[in-house]
Amino acid sequence: MTDNGREILVTVGLGNRSYPISISRGQLTKIGTDIAARKIGNRFCVISDDQVAGLYGEVLMQSLLEKGLAAELLTFPHGEASKKLETIGTLASQLAGIGFDRGDALVALGGGVTGDITGFLASIYMRGIPFIQVPTTLLAQVDSSVGGKTGVDIPEGKNLIGTFYQPQAVYIDPDVLSTLPDQELLGGLAEVIKYGVIWDKEFFDFLSANRKAILALEDSALLPLLARCCEIKAQVVEEDERESGLRRILNFGHTIGHAVEAASNFTLIHGLAIAIGMRAASDIAVLCKLCPPGDAEAVRRILEDFGLPVEIPSELDRKAIRRFLLTDKKTVGGRVFFVLPQEIGRVMITDKVASADIDEVLANT
Ligand code: NAD
Ligand code: GLY
Repeated sequence: MTDNGREILVTVGLGNRSYPISISRGQLTKIGTDIAARKIGNRFCVISDDQVAGLYGEVLMQSLLEKGLAAELLTFPHGEASKKLETIGTLASQLAGIGFDRGDALVALGGGVTGDITGFLASIYMRGIPFIQVPTTLLAQVDSSVGGKTGVDIPEGKNLIGTFYQPQAVYIDPDVLSTLPDQELLGGLAEVIKYGVIWDKEFFDFLSANRKAILALEDSALLPLLARCCEIKAQVVEEDERESGLRRILNFGHTIGHAVEAASNFTLIHGLAIAIGMRAASDIAVLCKLCPPGDAEAVRRILEDFGLPVEIPSELDRKAIRRFLLTDKKTVGGRVFFVLPQEIGRVMITDKVASADIDEVLANT
């Protein structure tokens, strides 16, 4: 990581597919300069949901156009419901309609939905064209824009179709977080806390100590937070790009979290469900005698302090959550895999959790 006071630079080191993550306030207005210098494509198509396009589409387009780059803006309706094959088909037809070819590049301007859609489209349009990530939610800035997972949902499940396809660059402008709804910010913070639990106790302690400054999006806390999350994600992806081992630790909280999210019929936003899942996984780890109770208590406390939920909403049917656990795509041959903390900063992956322990924790969460 380098920090020259104006820009923090983190590199994702993947040989000749390595790319920079640039974190800098106000950079939405300047991205054109860097993109032009990198010669990423002849023409650009910015893809964004209608909400983000309304807020930031014009400023990004201006930044590209004033550097002499040819650029178009394509939008789709905001929300997870757009993350489907039909959207990919529509956007691909629009690209073909404007004569987009293999020398051209896509720019994802938005949250994880936009990044996943755009990355997937880039990976298959004309068998692959370059793309750039400009993440605008906290979740996308600390997680989904880095690491090359792309994809869409089908009625049978979330993210069931997709590719691993790395972007050419990631440009993070913390300024855009000022318009993010509070719930979306909180959802992103759950993923931030996740990094502390799975990888870095010092970072976990930093988050606890700087809660107010983080929630106020103050530079002193927000910039190191973004940088450290990107650094950890980069390190994990460098070691295990295609999730054959280590990368699975990023699923901490997701086993029960996804089941809770599905049981709520996706009315509970992802990050909030993951917060509940992290608390539940920590309690399971204590029951399995893998984690000291004090560490599980610390996970619960930090989540609560940030205003994240740690209890399954009472209206959700525990039996439905149990059923969703078995149909999750991380469940293999009926074996439910859990990422469990052994202490703050260290986790393990296991499919050896007794059913009775899962039931006990579900009953008490
Ligand atoms: P999202 O992209 O739907 O964004 C959430 C909402 O915030 C949208 O309504 C959007 O219009 C709005 N928004 C975005 N930026 C804004 C801003 N700066 N100001 C105001 N409003 C803004 O959702 P998300 O939470 O960013 O991402 C969730 C998606 O990410 C899911 O589909 C999930 O599967 C995916 N994901 C992917 C990865 C990966 O590695 N590829 C990792 C985690 C999650
Ligand atoms: N968000 C999990 C991953 O990128 O692997």
